[in-house]
Amino acid sequence: MTVTTVLVIGAAGKTGRAVTRALTSRGVSVRAAVRSPDRAERAYAAGAQSISVVDLETGRGLDEALDHVDGVYHLAPNMRPGEVAIAERVAGAATRAGLSRFAFHSVLHPHDGSMPHHLRKAEAEKVVRAHLPGATVLRPAAYHQNLLEAAVAGRLAVPYSLDAPFTNVDLGDVAEAAATVLTRPGHEGVTYDLAGPDVISVRDQARIAEDVLGHPVHAMRVDLDEWTAGPGASLTTQARDDLVAMFTAYDRAGLVGDGSTLRRLLGREPRAWADVLRAASG
Ligand SMILES: NC(=O)c1ccc[n+]([C@@H]2O[C@H](COP(=O)([O-])OP(=O)(O)OC[C@H]3O[C@@H](n4cnc5c(N)ncnc54)[C@H](OP(=O)(O)O)[C@@H]3O)[C@@H](O)[C@H]2O)c1
Repeated sequence: MTVTTVLVIGAAGKTGRAVTRALTSRGVSVRAAVRSPDRAERAYAAGAQSISVVDLETGRGLDEALDHVDGVYHLAPNMRPGEVAIAERVAGAATRAGLSRFAFHSVLHPHDGSMPHHLRKAEAEKVVRAHLPGATVLRPAAYHQNLLEAAVAGRLAVPYSLDAPFTNVDLGDVAEAAATVLTRPGHEGVTYDLAGPDVISVRDQARIAEDVLGHPVHAMRVDLDEWTAGPGASLTTQARDDLVAMFTAYDRAGLVGDGSTLRRLLGREPRAWADVLRAASG
């Protein structure tokens, strides 16, 4: 079946815009699901052809948004307590609309019980599969882009071990994989881990960033209490607790996956941290 129009959930956000760009670069028309009309410009700038205003917390606008689309890319807003209910709403509406091409944006190691937001993704995967057994699940590692701005600014400050191992992944590669699984046959019902090509620590990231960017980049560990009282203070208690659990898990074991699946899906080497820095420094 040829997929010509895809509804991208969370299309004004970081991941949604990347997926929109990847789909439109293949000639797919994207309908962007946005929370409010004033976010439409962000989605149009990423290439979306049309906008649907959808409230994922209530389901308002979902059925209309799914009218005349062939596929859905579903992602949950970050650290959202209701993300399992959101998955139920979106997958249920996709089933009612008779859609079969559906991809869900999960996370690497969703069954890791030390991170509540990972467990919610595992539960959301189950809900999606119960509605749509042919859905494709993508499980990305942490994005290189999470620390890109900080690297350019010369300071990588994180509340976990600077030596913890990560296989961070390029968001553009994740988006390309998303476009592939939605538009090409053979990915129905499959779950893919999407990890980057190298195992590196934040200390390594700082060293590589210094080499590529040509200016000092300091890696520093911030005390978790300091983070909680500083950047964490403006978050909801739930989001703060989820992030503290995540930083604690990162401190213990990092977040490492196998890069071979993404390499196979892309048909090329996934982008390393140095590649992303080079592209950003232009
Ligand atoms: N960052 C990583 O390294 C990483 C790795 C793996 C997986 N993930 C997962 O990727 C997902 C997306 O992350 P992201 O950073 O792209 O998130 P994001 O930038 O916050 O985007 C989420 C989008 O959802 C929209 N939204 C929020 N509440 C909504 C509602 N009630 N109804 C409709 N739309 C709503 C937001 O709208 P507004 O624009 O109006 O705020 C935003 O545009 C998350 O589930 C995260 O766990 C992230």
